[in-house]
Amino acid sequence: MTSGPETRYRVRGGNPLQGTVFVQGAKNAALKMIAASLLAEKGRTVLRNVPVIEDVRRAVELAQAVGAVVKFHEAERTLVVDASELTSSVLPADIAGRFRASVLFVPALLHRLGEATIEGIGGCNLGSRLLDFHYRGFARLGAIVDEQETQIHIKAGHLRGAHLYLDTPSHTGTENLIMAASLAPGTTVIDNCALEPEVLDVIAFLTKMGARISGGGTGFVTVQGVGELTAVEHTVMADRIDAAVFAMAAAMAGGEVTLVGASLEDFGVVRWKLEQMGVEFATHGAILQVRRDRQLRPINVITSPFPGFATDLQSPIMALGCLAEGTSYIRETIFDGRYMLAGELNKMGAKVEVAGNAVLVHGPTPLHGAEVIAHELRTGIALVLAGLAAEGETVVAPGYLIDRGHASVASRLTTLGADVVEEIVD
Ligand code: EPU
Repeated sequence: MTSGPETRYRVRGGNPLQGTVFVQGAKNAALKMIAASLLAEKGRTVLRNVPVIEDVRRAVELAQAVGAVVKFHEAERTLVVDASELTSSVLPADIAGRFRASVLFVPALLHRLGEATIEGIGGCNLGSRLLDFHYRGFARLGAIVDEQETQIHIKAGHLRGAHLYLDTPSHTGTENLIMAASLAPGTTVIDNCALEPEVLDVIAFLTKMGARISGGGTGFVTVQGVGELTAVEHTVMADRIDAAVFAMAAAMAGGEVTLVGASLEDFGVVRWKLEQMGVEFATHGAILQVRRDRQLRPINVITSPFPGFATDLQSPIMALGCLAEGTSYIRETIFDGRYMLAGELNKMGAKVEVAGNAVLVHGPTPLHGAEVIAHELRTGIALVLAGLAAEGETVVAPGYLIDRGHASVASRLTTLGADVVEEIVD
């Protein structure tokens, strides 16, 4: 699915970090807003502070595939969407088959075209645990969900408000059902909603468009359906995961880094865990200073929905644990099988042990460069961080997976004094 040549990251460790870095706009808010902008029949949506990452490019391609006119002005990090004429209700297999966020386009297609087809996701997906909350919610709102051999077809039927619930506070599920309810006549209540800051930013965006949503951030959201939503301008919030990754880069390499556009409040428990490890923070408005000049202490981490420790930062903190004096305990509770990093860190000299449903990181261990595999986005960025503290050269591939979620990683780390390049694989 890469749009360009295959790449890899080459990291030469040992340099402490010093300087200023700009935090990107939030991936997990921007993707939802691109999909939500298709709910507006008139006008042009302007989204600012959109991260220049591969997942945003995929979302743009998907919007274009259904007929929206979308321009991504990458240098300005600004996206302009004209969705006045949607021409296709089909989310094509070449994108939808590998980009899970495709399901976020269903509400707009249902309301605008009366149906949506997601191709290439395979027959077994309908009942799978990953997207069942979404489909069950659409069905409770009155849609007819039809699972076929290689695609899912959803017909609007008579959409109307309903009482919905989520078995667990799904991040995307919450946003998707709020979008679907925004134009459904009547009142929808959604129980057990996600509390992530990105959900609140998506609610703020939809509210500007004219949606009537209350209860964001409480776990219990009420949506009064409205007749139409209009195109608006919005600035995407800062990416708390990107900010925390750069904070952890400073912790990994040592030194002092200034993050522009980071909110410590959006870190949730991550802030307290990093402080316990010995990382120091100082805030000056939207400027966050991060310093690490002492031996790191070990940590216990259990991932959980916001404000708990973010699953997306579980890999980076596992890498950080390798430098701590003592044994760190890490347990993932959101996703199965998010421990692929352990084996890769061990190739670099770490002592990471998968023990049942938890991971023990025995530190400190000197890390050395190695050729390692980015199994997914967060494993990839964690390996780049590990490379910052390793002796010699670390090669992380494929680079594409890191570029899915973090913009200009090599140049931003280089600005801080690190030796990181992204190069094309011959
Ligand atoms: N789940 C279901 N059924 C559903 C939906 C979710 O069983 O219908 C389960 C999932 O299998 C998982 C758990 O519920 O075990 C939580 O999933 P959730 O729906 O909250 O995750 P998501 O919305 O699909 C978003 C982010 C992820 C981030 C999680 C948790 C986006 C596009 N993705 O995923 O981001 O890890 O929330 O905060 O917003 C990443 O950026 O690297 C990433 C994976």
